[in-house]
Amino acid sequence: MASTTVTVPEVALRSGNARPMPAIGMGTAKFPLVRETTRDAVLAAVEVGYRHFDTASLYGSEQALGEAVAEAVRRGLVASREEVFVTSKLWCTQCHPHLVLPCLRESLRNLQMDYVDLYLIHWPISLKPGPKVFPAKREDAVPFDFEGVWREMEECHRLGLAKAIGVSNFTTWHLDKILATATVPPAVNQVELNPVWQQRKLREYCAEKGIHVAAYSPLGGQNWSGEGNAVLQSEVLAEIAEARGKSVAQVALRWIYEQGLSPIVKSFSKERLKQNLEIFDWELTDDDLVKIGQIPQKKIVKAANVIFSQEGEFTSVDLSDIKIVEE
Ligand SMILES: NC(=O)c1ccc[n+]([C@@H]2O[C@H](COP(=O)([O-])OP(=O)(O)OC[C@H]3O[C@@H](n4cnc5c(N)ncnc54)[C@H](OP(=O)(O)O)[C@@H]3O)[C@@H](O)[C@H]2O)c1
Repeated sequence: MASTTVTVPEVALRSGNARPMPAIGMGTAKFPLVRETTRDAVLAAVEVGYRHFDTASLYGSEQALGEAVAEAVRRGLVASREEVFVTSKLWCTQCHPHLVLPCLRESLRNLQMDYVDLYLIHWPISLKPGPKVFPAKREDAVPFDFEGVWREMEECHRLGLAKAIGVSNFTTWHLDKILATATVPPAVNQVELNPVWQQRKLREYCAEKGIHVAAYSPLGGQNWSGEGNAVLQSEVLAEIAEARGKSVAQVALRWIYEQGLSPIVKSFSKERLKQNLEIFDWELTDDDLVKIGQIPQKKIVKAANVIFSQEGEFTSVDLSDIKIVEE
């Protein structure tokens, strides 16, 4: 048995019958993805104490994650698959009622698992069915059938294939649409959130509706846009980190945790994986919180420039319907 020194708190999800969610998850998005490297990183994460893993049909990391969990069970690092919390996501080309269940079944085949703990609609965007092309063509965006897609998400839950269901990259406007039709409300909204993009309005809304917020790109992401990393390069965070004897990454992750949110953080380095887990036995001061609250805000991930190619036109959706920027 590996010695796990860190006790990770857990969050009870309001809807669904999922086991409580460990308050920090490991992200597995990496492009291009190398299966072996991902598998080894997940195994290293299990060794240092992670029990919550985030994947998506888009990432191509489901197989590596499933292999790593199976190997962790074989090695006795965990007693069974039930000890880990696995999230996967429905990609935009499958955001059509008849494709939801087949897409989850394909994810389960990739993962070699009978269920996921949490299944999310990846984006409030529907693309014409077909192969996953990234970036997508603007003319392939079609109106999102919120009622029909959510009904099928609920079916995934009813069948026990997804212990909890939720959404990702949803604004309050998109959440209103789901809540207007839901029998099982979304348990989680996974969104870009960090000290540089704090999403106060969305957090308040989700708290009121009992939707737990998971924070992706908690360290500012992987610099896919080439603009640098506003979190890891923040002077405010660096000052606080120095005063607390912590790293900037730890300050960002601790701040997210203190807001009652769960960071989903990607590292494929065992040393940084371990460091990122060491955020549960110390606190930020009130003064630190005030300083972090004053950091100028900047969103990195925007649907129009991340999901879609810059050429072409949106012909059948209104761009404002897929806007995910709100303060
Ligand atoms: N739902 C969505 O639409 C969505 C979108 C984006 C991401 N996600 C999920 O959220 C996960 C995390 O977000 P992200 O991958 O965008 O980025 P992130 O977790 O903010 O940042 C990861 C970057 O920081 C580095 N890093 C990690 N720990 C560090 C530390 N202690 N000190 C310095 N650098 C450190 C990592 O590199 P090393 O590996 O070299 O450590 C990596 O390049 C993803 O992997 C994915 O699972 C979801």
